[in-house]
Amino acid sequence: MSDQILTMTVNGRRVNKPVNGQYRLLDYLREEVHLTGAKEGCGAGECGTCSVFVDGKLVKSCLMPANKADGATIQTVEGLAPRGELTTLQRAFHKTGASQCGYCIPGMVMAATSALRENPFADIEEIKERLGGNICRCTGYTKIFEAVELARDVLNGRLAASALDAEGAGDSYIGNNVRRLDAPSKVSGALKYAGDTTMQDMLHMQVLRSPHPHARILSIDTSAAEAMEGVECVITHRDVPGVDGFGVFVHDQPVMAREKVRYVGEAVAAVSAETQEIARRALSLIKVEYEELPGIFDPEEAMLPGAVVVHDYAPNNLVKHIPIRKGNVEQGFAEADIIVENSYSTQQVEHAYLEPEAGLAYVDHDGVVTVFSPSQNITHHRHMLATIIDKPINKVRFIMSPVGGGFGGKEDMIYQGMLALSAMKTGRPVRLIFTREESIIASAKRHPSRVTYRMGLKNDGTITAVSFKMISDGGAYGMSTEGVMRKAAILSLGPYDIPNVQIDTYGIYTNNTPSGAFRTFGAMQSQFATESHLDICAERLGLDPFEIRRRNMMKIGSLTHTGQRLETVSIAEVLATAEAFCRWEAGAPTSRGASRGDLGGPDTRRSCTLGARFRLETTDSRQEVA
Ligand code: FES
Repeated sequence: MSDQILTMTVNGRRVNKPVNGQYRLLDYLREEVHLTGAKEGCGAGECGTCSVFVDGKLVKSCLMPANKADGATIQTVEGLAPRGELTTLQRAFHKTGASQCGYCIPGMVMAATSALRENPFADIEEIKERLGGNICRCTGYTKIFEAVELARDVLNGRLAASALDAEGAGDSYIGNNVRRLDAPSKVSGALKYAGDTTMQDMLHMQVLRSPHPHARILSIDTSAAEAMEGVECVITHRDVPGVDGFGVFVHDQPVMAREKVRYVGEAVAAVSAETQEIARRALSLIKVEYEELPGIFDPEEAMLPGAVVVHDYAPNNLVKHIPIRKGNVEQGFAEADIIVENSYSTQQVEHAYLEPEAGLAYVDHDGVVTVFSPSQNITHHRHMLATIIDKPINKVRFIMSPVGGGFGGKEDMIYQGMLALSAMKTGRPVRLIFTREESIIASAKRHPSRVTYRMGLKNDGTITAVSFKMISDGGAYGMSTEGVMRKAAILSLGPYDIPNVQIDTYGIYTNNTPSGAFRTFGAMQSQFATESHLDICAERLGLDPFEIRRRNMMKIGSLTHTGQRLETVSIAEVLATAEAFCRWEAGAPTSRGASRGDLGGPDTRRSCTLGARFRLETTDSRQEVA
């Protein structure tokens, strides 16, 4: 499609730029005007990170074709305040610490600006309503709402402007309200994430991904894509000069699929071209011949003899088994008055950080291969990259770009190798930005897990023995699974002093999307089972859920099930605070605003305690708890 010249007034400056007919206003602002405060979080009108004013009206620029804005007056977050200054609202975001990772914040600032422009006296409910089209994954929104209310009150004169001033840290930074140093660049849109960064002569990368969960690669023909005008290079596994296997614990993951693909979305080839559009079109010219293979998708089935094998080196599909033993578990069960058995399942969870994966790689004037990318494990990434590209470590540089949300999901390296190889092959900088769909399909997830629980107890609630078995779906590659299984096992029984313990956690290969690190690193899955099980045991014994915990909680001098003698223990204070906070004696509040006393009965008590929606699978019944 031929280029069209668009004229706009952007932040008070007249701009004339040619655009591809497929450009959205967001692309025009970011790629042609080089204003990157408006960001792409979803590309589908859902997250609000791309918000700008068009002729004074708040618009999600990912939804607006650029040519529809021809002749319009645009204001982006960079244009809200004179250069080097912040608006009252931006200062309020700084003051309340609302910025966190910062990726959603320009959009939040724009939406809040719009809300206060339209109603300078907006109450908190209206503020929440007006920010309802913007998603934040870090803050929990509280600080953002606080910031908007603070700005409103300063703008209205209800509060003096000094309310925006910094508070002193006093004698210590601990326990005092300290301002984030990086907040001004986040609230003004000036901070450059990897996807905001450009270099002269830069190429754009797109990745061809597997449509099959398990298939043998018979051939890859890249010749037509390589011959396409504007394509600078195409890489496959054949372009990896070093060790083509990496991972946090097991080095089982190729940079791009080699011989086999093992999950839908696995990278097979990557194109670097003059524009993203050319690179995207070139992907369709790459011919990959597959022989589809049967897949295995259930970790328990994957452990059975004769199951499909995902990796030849692991004929039983085992990534890692972590066993922990303490005392004599059979004797402990023999001493129990009752034995309670249940199983607990948790599902796969996507991190959904607002910044999709992105990176820029180049080879500098001294031959140092440099990758600028968000990372939660930068030293590991650098060492893995050195072995992949077969360079000494002093020839590999990894620069951690600002991380627009990670939650563990940016610990595992999944694309930086392709960027480095393409930069080496072309001698030019190469940038890759995932789409939201690509981020979801190709990034590691929280491990789905199933725990089989057996607990022996005395009638007074004292636990005599626990057998805990957790089987987790590790997906197609090892990634952080070993660490997650270790943490799940170590923390499985919570802060409870149990004399006889048998714990087994298993990470298992399947042909599902790989699993990796996610907030709490396995402890969420295992402790969800433990805390749920304690509630059920309390109910069976007719005990209060707090009481059964107090009866079994660790004390100073207790020996954990991994052998540490505890010198400090705070569970008693935690229980007391939790009990007071949820007004247990008065009846705990529910999400519908009713108290425990309003609803009454043991079922209500369980729903109060457990909160989120999940499935309990008991030996004698199944029930949904909301
Ligand atoms: Fe435009 Fe999400 S709403 S990127």
